Amino acid sequence: MIDLRSDTVTQPTDEMRAAIAASPVGDDAYGDDPTVLELEAKTAEILGKEAAMYVPTGTMSNQLAIRTHTQPSDAVLVGPGAHIWYGEAGAPSTISGVVIQPLSGERGTFDAETLRAALPIEMSKVRKRHFSPIRLVCAENTHNGAGGTVWPLERQQNMLKEAKTAGLATHLDGARLWHATVATGIPEAEYAAGFDSINVCFSKGLGAPLGSALAGSADFIEHARRFKQLYGGGFRQAGMMAAGAVFALEHNRERLIEDHRRARILAQGLAELPGIEIDLDGVETNIVRFRSMDVPAPEFMDRCAQMGVAVNTYNSTDVRAVPHLHITDDDISEALTIFCNAASGKTSP
Ligand SMILES: Cc1ncc(COP(=O)(O)O)c(C=O)c1O
Repeated sequence: MIDLRSDTVTQPTDEMRAAIAASPVGDDAYGDDPTVLELEAKTAEILGKEAAMYVPTGTMSNQLAIRTHTQPSDAVLVGPGAHIWYGEAGAPSTISGVVIQPLSGERGTFDAETLRAALPIEMSKVRKRHFSPIRLVCAENTHNGAGGTVWPLERQQNMLKEAKTAGLATHLDGARLWHATVATGIPEAEYAAGFDSINVCFSKGLGAPLGSALAGSADFIEHARRFKQLYGGGFRQAGMMAAGAVFALEHNRERLIEDHRRARILAQGLAELPGIEIDLDGVETNIVRFRSMDVPAPEFMDRCAQMGVAVNTYNSTDVRAVPHLHITDDDISEALTIFCNAASGKTSP
């Protein structure tokens, strides 16, 4: 099976497994796992922040950020199609008791004017009581739902300026921030500058078996550590897994350019196929989203699986394919042949 469902499906390579096997470990809940501490220091340095905290998943990282920045009944602004909003099982309302207010925009991003328009007007204390105070604004870069799109730095900086003027806290869901850096050459720390907190994931394109980190000021991370423990996130000899993440940071960031190249070849091939619609300009990194126009997307996905390619669907038209660490050039050409067959109604090659 050529598995293009997600970049989360990667298996640790032999070299990564060797690094994991050799890693010194301690007890993360006592704060003395040396490999976790090494990973946290490296991550904070890359992101230009005072501190970072290793956690099991990106969802936990984002949700710890929201819990630390807000109080129940607060409102959180997010961009269109934000993972925090639609992809984390309703955690913001369940865990933090906050209201998510989605903003409109392009390719997962929104501008300073849109943010300003969402802010409350001057009103009396009595009227104010009726509304959820907006405390936090969240961005996502690259943007999964929009197809791995990169938030242009200037647009992001203008939005952040507006958020600061309004006194809002800011969080970046940078699950795939590494991809933005590889695509543009702009260091992760430049994208992270101005945000109060950032989530990054090691378990996606970087190929580690699990883990994410939340970064920010030393005070913010210390505060978030209490919630990590409260959520059951003190995961003891976590250095076993952190070693995979350290290996991934050191060896797998630059090679993401290969995934981007294959995503582009895949997208260009798809653009030639009858029954497929794709916005080529929207394919900026490793995620390829396209529409199956004649065959309903769930049926298209089943046909592809029968012929040996796994993809993901989200509704009746949209399909997602994501090249990653284990996908070769030959896999991409075979996948294109299978997509062509599936779009024209075939279930076997
Ligand atoms: C943009 C984004 N943020 C957060 C997450 C959540 O990460 P995890 O699956 O590790 O909880 C994902 C997962 O795919 C994601 O794409």
